[in-house]
Amino acid sequence: MPDVKDMMQSVRGQHVWIIGASSGIGAATALALSKAGAHVILSARRADVLEHVGQQLYGFNHQILPFDVASYAETVVAFSKIKRLDRVLFLAAVYDPTIEGRTDIAFIQQSLQVNLAGVFHIVNVVTSFFEGQGYGQINLCGSVAGYFGLPNAQPYSATKAAIINLAESLYIENQAKNIDVKLISPGFVRTPMTDKNDFVMPMMISVEAAAEAILAGMTAEAFEIHFPKKFTWLVKVLRFLPYYLSFKLSKILS
Ligand SMILES: NC(=O)c1ccc[n+]([C@@H]2O[C@H](COP(=O)([O-])OP(=O)(O)OC[C@H]3O[C@@H](n4cnc5c(N)ncnc54)[C@H](OP(=O)(O)O)[C@@H]3O)[C@@H](O)[C@H]2O)c1
Repeated sequence: MPDVKDMMQSVRGQHVWIIGASSGIGAATALALSKAGAHVILSARRADVLEHVGQQLYGFNHQILPFDVASYAETVVAFSKIKRLDRVLFLAAVYDPTIEGRTDIAFIQQSLQVNLAGVFHIVNVVTSFFEGQGYGQINLCGSVAGYFGLPNAQPYSATKAAIINLAESLYIENQAKNIDVKLISPGFVRTPMTDKNDFVMPMMISVEAAAEAILAGMTAEAFEIHFPKKFTWLVKVLRFLPYYLSFKLSKILS
């Protein structure tokens, strides 16, 4: 049985499932992983876009696996089509910057179902598989928006805060099972998601830089993969300040 610390050091020859691989950070990370010698399983809802991403990948033995992660039944069926798996990366999310002051219950429910229930769906199916196999790695994507309740993205921020909490629980619970759990906390990255924003996004980075940071973090020991560090450390500080100061700062940052 390989020690998870040994298997973590390289992705070469490993099978990595990315949920949210059709665009942005997920598509760029798929490319970086394939360049590093991994076999990538690409998932999201749009099959045609996944096919296009798949055509850009290096290497061989990649798999296109479209499904809707909001549905547990679809998640189970999709997972049954995977033969080998070493790591999973949950990057799927929906976001709408115009939610403030608006009670769009349908969008709130979609956010809860994709961003949060989706994580539970994936964790549920892969954990028992990794337990049986004796090792594995689970990477969940939070956000700096989950560090502190930033304005203009209520359901998004709330689901990201929940993912941080969940990743912390899973890290502790899975240590004895030889399953590594990591939390990915991006700052601003230029993607179709952030293209929706009309406010200034400080220290924004490219998807290539984000993918490089994720790949480096997946093969390192630390629990959290956060980037760009100058920005993420700044937002982390908000968590530890008294509220009267953190609210003032969060207004400036948003
Ligand atoms: N960009 C940033 O600045 C930033 C900052 C912090 C955190 N993040 C996080 O990074 C991750 C990637 O974001 P991104 O910026 O790359 O966004 P993106 O380009 O909009 O990608 C989102 C991905 O989620 C997939 N998705 C959405 N709903 C889904 C569903 N029901 N089932 C399966 N897949 C679904 C989308 O594919 P389909 O539409 O084809 O389903 C797409 O591949 C997200 O978790 C996001 O919250 C991003």
